[in-house]
Amino acid sequence: MSDWIDEALAQRRAAGLVRVRRAVLAQAGGRVRLAGRWLVNFASNDYLALATDPRLARAAARAARRYGTGATASPLIVGWSKPMRALERALADWEQCPRALCFASGFAANLGVVTALAGRGDVIFSDELNHASLIDGCRLSRASVQIYRHADANHLADLLAQHAAGARRLLIVSDSVFSMDGDLAPLPALAELAQRYGAMLVLDEAHATGILGAQGSGLAELHRDSLSPLGERFVKVGTLSKALGSQGGYVCASKQVVRYLLNTARPYIYSTGLAPPVAAAARCAVGIARSPEATASRGRVLALAGELQTRLRARGWTVPATATQIVPIVVGSTPRALDLSRHLARAGLLVPAIRPPTVPAGTARLRVSLTAAHTPADVLALVEALGHPPVNAPAAE
Ligand SMILES: Cc1ncc(COP(=O)(O)O)c(C=O)c1O
Repeated sequence: MSDWIDEALAQRRAAGLVRVRRAVLAQAGGRVRLAGRWLVNFASNDYLALATDPRLARAAARAARRYGTGATASPLIVGWSKPMRALERALADWEQCPRALCFASGFAANLGVVTALAGRGDVIFSDELNHASLIDGCRLSRASVQIYRHADANHLADLLAQHAAGARRLLIVSDSVFSMDGDLAPLPALAELAQRYGAMLVLDEAHATGILGAQGSGLAELHRDSLSPLGERFVKVGTLSKALGSQGGYVCASKQVVRYLLNTARPYIYSTGLAPPVAAAARCAVGIARSPEATASRGRVLALAGELQTRLRARGWTVPATATQIVPIVVGSTPRALDLSRHLARAGLLVPAIRPPTVPAGTARLRVSLTAAHTPADVLALVEALGHPPVNAPAAE
């Protein structure tokens, strides 16, 4: 292969940044079998433990028999199946929005929404820790992009004051729960600024769906009053591939915005519709996610996350405060994060090391995600295996 590729890989290897995959041989009950060993899985985003739920498997199997295993074409040609239509209706009802539109992935949904809603002459204001799919949507859109400091509404207000004049349209984009930090966007402040400047607000709820809100539909559910003045200018993105245990992404918006997206969002138009079994499984998951059973799961997951944070902090670990199921343990250097992750794997616990460029240099971390399949004993096992942070461990890269 070309020398430059060898060189690029060698550089990554030297920095401890080469990524490899391991096939999942089986998974059940919050455990995953990798390379012949069962590990407690603190790495998955299957927050409601639905990916292995037999009800979803049955729904998928029924749909496969009736509609086939693949959608066979773009939704605009002949790939919009009855299960996909039923899923979109169920999502709109759950999210209390006029319409939902399903994409092949959450990544595709973010790309599609941002590139359809912003273009040359527009300004996008984007949180510095937004997910890669929002970042790439900003880049592809050809709009001018202003990055505001993480969750800092004052900085966003300053940037709006400087850059709003003369722009054709304004778009504010943010994750709602940040994937590597587990903290929340300052949603009421974002909504207020969007209202003041006549901007659209795009909120990516990938890690909030199924977990936040009494109905489990996400952070926006907790701030309906702040968001309602925005009307059509509020657009929400979710994923089917985390708490909903399936695959795909979706957008919730007004009828007009959804009509516009299905005519203009390129990842929607030029990609095959959701496979019918996938759509049927997700539809089944939505029903569960809004039921009392899931309310109890959410409570358990968030309580376990709180317990883990308290215990780790008491032992001296650096654990930024989060009110979500994602608990980051910031250790600083990449080798240290990798060593800890290997140590935990030897103890039967799968906790991924998250390294740059996924997180800023010097903030490599362990990312623990709690799910409804975990027990208090799993959390205690993790705390015990981690022990105390070594004294004088180098904190920076
Ligand atoms: C914040 C955020 N948005 C979007 C996505 C993409 O979702 P999907 O995995 O469905 O493509 C992810 C997933 O990794 C994410 O963490």
